[in-house]
Amino acid sequence: METKYLTVNDIDLAAAILKHGGLVAMPTETVYGLAANAYNGVAVAKIFKAKGRPMDNPLIVHISDIEQIREMVSIFPEKAQILAKHFWPGPLTIILPKSKRIPDEVSAGLPTVAVRFPAHPIAQTLISKSMPLAAPSANLSGKPSPTTAAHVWDDMNGRIDAVLDGGACKVGVESTVITLATDTPRLLRPGGITLEQLRAVIGEVVLDTAVLNPLKNGEAAASPGMKYKHYAPKAKVILLKGDEKAYCTYVNTHIENGTAALCYAEEQTILNVPTICLGADQDYEQQANNLFDALRLCDKKNFQKVYAHCPETTGMGLAVYNRIIRAAGFEVIDLEK
Ligand code: TXA
Ligand code: MG
Repeated sequence: METKYLTVNDIDLAAAILKHGGLVAMPTETVYGLAANAYNGVAVAKIFKAKGRPMDNPLIVHISDIEQIREMVSIFPEKAQILAKHFWPGPLTIILPKSKRIPDEVSAGLPTVAVRFPAHPIAQTLISKSMPLAAPSANLSGKPSPTTAAHVWDDMNGRIDAVLDGGACKVGVESTVITLATDTPRLLRPGGITLEQLRAVIGEVVLDTAVLNPLKNGEAAASPGMKYKHYAPKAKVILLKGDEKAYCTYVNTHIENGTAALCYAEEQTILNVPTICLGADQDYEQQANNLFDALRLCDKKNFQKVYAHCPETTGMGLAVYNRIIRAAGFEVIDLEK
């Protein structure tokens, strides 16, 4: 298949491709999404094939007007309305019991549907010119999510109808996923909206254990995506827990061929290995923004072993932690012990 490379001037063409059941990678404020008409099960099934995604992993439906959610869900409870009012359009996905309109291909057979109203103007225009769009991140399954059109091209050229280039994504990690289909709201994936922000507007929100911990053998995942290997470059990622001095000392005394380090700006001149800077220490927004590009760069540079800091789990740090702990296969070396 020939993949078209489109720009903002080609939105009408992108919308026409979607209306005819094709696949278009679109920019959002979080990461690029691989979109298909959410109400066309045949079109949605093509997404799974293009990504190599397991069929039991459901997709997020993207809307361009809050009212569109009403035809997708069987109930739109007050807490969901409050969240929508505060955080939409934006990087928050809300899971609710689904209506009959949502094809099984979207929900992967679950009785629920995940809905998000993205803030990116190109995504909004594309949805309003076509229809609600089912879209997972536009990477090959298992790879870091794409935050530029070039990342999408690397993974998807020849596999989809078009890539719509809208520049680099602002947030850089995927949306926060919260389910309101449970008795107490539950955070399934941390992202652009923090747990603290959610609690400030709807009160109690439980942190699902799979956000921070590996699933035990045979344990069912509240969010199917959490059971799959994620975000991992080919290099072995080793997380170190400790302050900057301990981090730099450890890395500088464990140098082998092909060793590199993800680091904070302050550490670049201290480390004696090739570095990829994620941003300033404590600036978790910046680190989240650079993380996936950094992980992809590790493969491009053919690094074998990559050290990284284990971040704090507050604010946007929780989103960074959730991604990087998976990239590291949940292994952390504690330098404080
Ligand atoms: O920022 C984002 O959320 C991006 C952009 C494109 O919007 N999308 C994205 O989609 O990250 P994806 O498919 O890569 O991640 C969606 C996550 C998966 O872990 C999936 O299992 C979970 O949401 N999910 C989707 N529908 C669900 C449902 N009904 N119940 C539980 N988890 C669900
Ligand atoms: Mg994904």
